[in-house]
Amino acid sequence: MGPLRIAVTGAGGRLGRALLAALSQGGVADDLVAWSRPDYDLEDPDAPRRLLRRHRPRLVVHAAAWTDVDGCARDPHRALVRNGLATAALAAACARAGVSLIYVSTNEVFAGDRGDGQGYQPEDPPHPVTPYGRSKEYGEAAATAAFVSLAGVEPPQPYDPDRSPPAVQLAIVRTAWLFGPPGGDFPSKILAAARQAQERGTALRVVADEVGSPTYSRDLACALAALIASGRFHGIHHIVNGGRVSRAGWARWLLSRLRLEVPLEEVGQADWPRPARPPAWAVLATTPLPRPPLRSWEAAMEAYLAVLASSQIAAVRG
Ligand SMILES: NC(=O)c1ccc[n+]([C@@H]2O[C@H](COP(=O)([O-])OP(=O)(O)OC[C@H]3O[C@@H](n4cnc5c(N)ncnc54)[C@H](OP(=O)(O)O)[C@@H]3O)[C@@H](O)[C@H]2O)c1
Repeated sequence: MGPLRIAVTGAGGRLGRALLAALSQGGVADDLVAWSRPDYDLEDPDAPRRLLRRHRPRLVVHAAAWTDVDGCARDPHRALVRNGLATAALAAACARAGVSLIYVSTNEVFAGDRGDGQGYQPEDPPHPVTPYGRSKEYGEAAATAAFVSLAGVEPPQPYDPDRSPPAVQLAIVRTAWLFGPPGGDFPSKILAAARQAQERGTALRVVADEVGSPTYSRDLACALAALIASGRFHGIHHIVNGGRVSRAGWARWLLSRLRLEVPLEEVGQADWPRPARPPAWAVLATTPLPRPPLRSWEAAMEAYLAVLASSQIAAVRG
C-alpha cells in the first residue's frame, strides 16, 4: 500500500482547519491536501471526480457543508444540493476510484424528541426534522448506497472490533454543537449577546429546553486522526465531548467561569422564533472509538477559553 494521502474538504472551516492541524501534527498522513473553495464548490457535481483524478488521495474527510441551519430552512433546495447531492457525488466518485471516505454528519439526523434521557445510538433510526438535518441525512444515505453498490462493501454498522474492515472504507461520523476557532460559535455569540445585554441593561435571554453535547473542534479532529490511524474506521461513529447541557446551562457556565455579571433569563424554544427549530434533544451516545473517549465538554471549554479571543472576553468585562 502506498503513502497515505488524505484530502480534507471544507479545509477553511472550523473542523477542517482543526483537522489539517491534527493530521499533520499527529503524523497520521504522509501527505495532506486541502480542498476548499473555489477548488471544491459543493454545487459543482463534477468537482469530486476532477479533484480525485488530480490529487489521488487514499482517503477523503468530508467536513464541508452548508452549516447555516436557518439558511438551510429558508432555502431547503440549496441545502439538499450543497449537503445531500454534493455528498452523493463525492461518495460515488470515491467508491468508483477505490478511495475511502469519512463523512462528518450531525445529531440533526435525529428528531430530538426522545424522552428517556438517553443519547442517540448509531442504530437509532434517523428522523430529521429540519431541512439541514434532512440534507445531511440524505448525504448519509447516498454515501452508504454509493459504497454498497459501487465499492461492494457492507453498509456501515456500529463499530464492532471483531469485524475486519473492507479495503475501501466508509465512516459516518456524527457530532454535535461544535465550538472552536475561528469563533462565530455558541460561546462567541453568547459573549457578544452578553455585551449587548449589558449595554441595554437587559437580561441575556437563552434557550433552556434544548440540550446537547457541546464538542470542541480540536478534540473531534484529534479523535478523527486517531480513528484514521487505527486503520479501522468503516462504520457509524458518534464522537462528542463528554456530558450534556442545555444552551442556557452552557451560557451560564461561560459567564460564571469568566466572572461576568450579566443576568440570564431562561426562555423556551417556542419563545425564540427562528426559521428552523433544531432538535430539542441533541445528545449523542458516544461509540467505542476513539479510546479513551473525549474529555468532558467543560474541560474542553477550559482549553478553548485559552484561545478564545481575549479581546472578546475583555469587551464584556468592560
Ligand atoms: N457546527 C456544528 O455545530 C456542527 C454540528 C454537527 C455536525 N457538524 C458538521 O461538521 C462539519 C464541519 O462543520 P464546521 O462547524 O466546521 O462548519 P463550518 O465552519 O461552517 O465550515 C464548513 C466548511 O464548508 C465550506 N463550504 C460551505 N459551503 C460551501 C460551498 N457551497 N462550496 C464549497 N465549500 C463550502 C466552508 O467554506 P468557506 O470557509 O469558504 O465558507 C467551510 O470551509 C459539517 O459537515 C457539519 O455538517 C457541524
